[in-house]
Amino acid sequence: MSVSRGGFSSRLGFIMAAAGSAVGLGNIWGFPTQTASNGGAAFVLVYLVLAFSLAYPAFMAELLIGRYGQANAVSSMQKMSRNLWQKRFAFFVGFGGIICAALILSFYGILAGWMMSYAIEPIARLIGLTEVSTWLTSQSIARNLVFSALFMMLTIAIIRRGVEDGIEKWSKRLMPMLIGLLILLIIYVFTLEGAKEGFEAYLNPDISRIFEPDLLISALGQAFFSLSLGTSVMIIYGSYISKSENLVTLGAQVTLIDVSIAFLAGLLIIPAMYVAQAQGVAIFAEDGSLISGPNLVFDILPTLFNGMGAVGIFVAFGFFVLMSIAALTSSISMLEGPVSFVVERHNVERKKATTLIGLGILAMSSLIVLNFDLLFGLVISISTVYGQPLIAMFCCVFVGWIWHRSEILAEIKQGNESVENSLFWKIWPWYTKLVCPLAIGAVFIHSL
Ligand code: PHE
Repeated sequence: MSVSRGGFSSRLGFIMAAAGSAVGLGNIWGFPTQTASNGGAAFVLVYLVLAFSLAYPAFMAELLIGRYGQANAVSSMQKMSRNLWQKRFAFFVGFGGIICAALILSFYGILAGWMMSYAIEPIARLIGLTEVSTWLTSQSIARNLVFSALFMMLTIAIIRRGVEDGIEKWSKRLMPMLIGLLILLIIYVFTLEGAKEGFEAYLNPDISRIFEPDLLISALGQAFFSLSLGTSVMIIYGSYISKSENLVTLGAQVTLIDVSIAFLAGLLIIPAMYVAQAQGVAIFAEDGSLISGPNLVFDILPTLFNGMGAVGIFVAFGFFVLMSIAALTSSISMLEGPVSFVVERHNVERKKATTLIGLGILAMSSLIVLNFDLLFGLVISISTVYGQPLIAMFCCVFVGWIWHRSEILAEIKQGNESVENSLFWKIWPWYTKLVCPLAIGAVFIHSL
């Protein structure tokens, strides 16, 4: 294992990095899209409940594993194991999470590449490069390869610098920019005609839909994706937190930021759709549901921006820069999972490991781009529909059934002396032991 593994230098550094991982395309694109296709506010309500009742406890389990182990996901979990079978199980879960992170990055990099090309497009238009502008916004293998590569280069450049100089420094720079941009865009959209109607559609729940199984499954999947669970990412970020920090509050703060930004993103996107409608754009599909998926971000919103005249160029630029930043603070966490494993277990130097693994994942992205119809959806479902819930469930099983309760308490007590008498300690242990694995398992089986 490397002698000095680095760590976050401050509480704020951790919060920005972990929130940076959590807040990504999942919040700003996935959440509003799912809200639009699942009955608006009913989805928002279910999401909020599931995020705090199931995702937060599982998130705490992963953070704790990492801080206890002070190492990559596999080593951390093996440290808690007491016999050979447990060690094997630890390897399976830890390594499974690492593979999951790599798979997610391989498709996420393509999506992030689209965001970057759409961010550059308004500039091309502004300086009169019409052909370039058309190339940037039309689907082509060349464009997808170029922009996935550019995005991966940025991710590699940050991770090569390590935890404090790379992850922490850049998350601290990018996250406030992201929040600022998001708020500016919301304020702007609210001044436009039609926004009020969108606001009402977003906040008035259709209670009858709340218990629909499909809605529950989508909301839970969204919450797990958003908190980056089941990917080893939060284990490794947990391992970089100082032992003097109170994990219970840190975890809650990160969850709160993540959920709030998803909520804010809905407040931007859904009203923006209704503004588009007021300008004559069709926002409902033939079956009467709100248009969602890629069309929402790459058709409806650009049409809206174009309709705004000169200012639209800047709004479009701001929006897609926002998307690109959100993606970058998430992608660095996905790369850190596999990199920390190779650096610590195989004694490879960080810069070298980062470049090699980053290029390997880029090769996978290129393969997906070249066989898009076959691989894109497949990789997404293997990693997010099957991989993430399963690995997250196993992490809860590990903490609930294999790790000794007294050892867990000793770990949480560091930085939180009075935790034993808190509500958290009364609920969380049995919750992680029983409720989380059962609930995740039930939803998982249903989704099959
Ligand atoms: N949470 C990120 C998002 O919402 C995605 C992510 C998944 C990041 C898994 C890291 C690991 O976009």
